[in-house]
Amino acid sequence: MKKIILNNYDEVSRAAADVYVQQLRNKPDSVLGLATGSTPLGLYAELVRKYQSGEIDFSKACSFNLDEYYPIRKSHPQSYDSFMHANLFSKVNFAQSRLPNGEAEDPQAECIKYDAEIEAAGGIDLQLLGIGLNGHIGFNEPSASYPMSTNLVKLTESTLKANSRFFDASDSQPTQALTMGFGAIFHAKSILLIITGANKAPVSRKLFDGVIHTDIPASLLLLHPDVTVIMDREASGANGA
Ligand code: F6R
Repeated sequence: MKKIILNNYDEVSRAAADVYVQQLRNKPDSVLGLATGSTPLGLYAELVRKYQSGEIDFSKACSFNLDEYYPIRKSHPQSYDSFMHANLFSKVNFAQSRLPNGEAEDPQAECIKYDAEIEAAGGIDLQLLGIGLNGHIGFNEPSASYPMSTNLVKLTESTLKANSRFFDASDSQPTQALTMGFGAIFHAKSILLIITGANKAPVSRKLFDGVIHTDIPASLLLLHPDVTVIMDREASGANGA
């Protein structure tokens, strides 16, 4: 696992965007695994800026997102579908983009279809990840076992609490999600994990203590041959967090 510590969120966003410039230069038809949440917002803004200035082109690339709440209307302002359209897809030129369908009537069938589509695309070239306060990646919550396939999961109290900031009181927050499993994530040729903010310092410290913690899903990334972690000083704990 390669670790890069930068001064702040903006530097992390810019360095992560450079990884995409390089990736698409090397392989314009890359299959990109994308994430939602607060952490990649700066990265997506930077990718939009680079696209507008002609530095990056997504026209041959396709993307698969890690996860989506279930059930949720795509048009719901807090769906990950809405998030991706607002922050990236409506502003750049992906050939094709796909998220797990939070409207699917049969979630199991949707999971099987999603994995088949990733496989048909040739698997993921570069998988972007954020990390939950409890160490989750995608919505793979800490557990005694981790499914390989895309699956329907029940969100933990910790994740529901962390994400409640996006839902107002009148809105019922979905308690389940469809998430890529460890199969698609671990078969990605390379993985980029971005971690920012002091609240992530405790979990990132555990990520780098040289031990695989089976109750921290991200800890299993130590076994992947090509993972780059770009983090800010706060998340690294360097500021005493
Ligand atoms: C989002 C996802 C999650 C987030 C994680 C961190 O698609 O898969 O694992 O990356 O919950 O979220 P933020 O960035 O909001 O702290």
